[in-house]
Amino acid sequence: MKKYAVFGNPIAQSLSPTIHTMFAKSCGIELEYTKILAPVDGFAASLESFFEDGGVGCNVTMPFKEEAFSLADYRNAAADMAKAANTLKRDESGTLHAYNTDGIGLVTDLTAKGAKLDRANVLLLGAGGAAKGVVQPLLEAGVKTLHILNRTLSKAQVIEKDSGSDRVVAITAESLAPDYEVVINSTSASLQGTLPEVPVSVFKHCNIAYDMVYGSEPTVFMEFAKEHGATAQVDGLGMLVQQAAAAFTIWTGKQPETQDVEHYLRELKK
Ligand code: ATR
Repeated sequence: MKKYAVFGNPIAQSLSPTIHTMFAKSCGIELEYTKILAPVDGFAASLESFFEDGGVGCNVTMPFKEEAFSLADYRNAAADMAKAANTLKRDESGTLHAYNTDGIGLVTDLTAKGAKLDRANVLLLGAGGAAKGVVQPLLEAGVKTLHILNRTLSKAQVIEKDSGSDRVVAITAESLAPDYEVVINSTSASLQGTLPEVPVSVFKHCNIAYDMVYGSEPTVFMEFAKEHGATAQVDGLGMLVQQAAAAFTIWTGKQPETQDVEHYLRELKK
């Protein structure tokens, strides 16, 4: 049976084994997918022993995404832009390939939830690792403008510069556009139950307010967006499932059923 795993620290909370086991079942594949708690200073060694032991692919979560990126021999464009990888694959020749499927996970889920990204004006809140990972796939989805608003402007400016695209603009609260169709929260504020500072006007024409975070209740950002006029509010659970699906396809060449998995996870965390 082919061996897969997710590495992180902490890792107990990870839903990835559940997700990939369901994917495998839906595709008629047998696989083993485990959680590996790597020591904070021992990721490389832990990864090496996983592959030595016959592992073929893995997911990587906090705090190892940057290290996974730098350990790889080959990186796809999304990983390059993020300077972080959430998916690794070792081929038969021993070459380590790194991918970042977070952005494609976001784009696939946004589209599934009804967002029209082609020619859309999009506002991205936050400029940390989570933001970096989604810029390239959003550009590829055809967004007209991608404005980035962050507490620390200089971090948004770095993303603007690294993107190499004039559609990406680091913006201040004073120079926001009047008509964002999609507003995405990539800040870690929701994890603390707080909101990033954002003028309420950004939700006036907003069709979808998307929080990359998920929990058993709607996040504070979702509630705030609803209160100020966003038509729909979506949490990041679907993104989690879709980034996993993209990794599963990289490893197996198969496209798993995702809707049932998201539905199952929503019931599970009630
Ligand atoms: P991640 O890798 O998950 O994106 P990160 O790199 O620590 O995490 O970035 C977190 C992002 O959330 C940053 O953009 C951070 O803003 P700063 O760049 O100014 O630090 C943003 N953030 C975190 N807490 C916030 C809060 N309470 N209000 C606004 N922004 C917040």
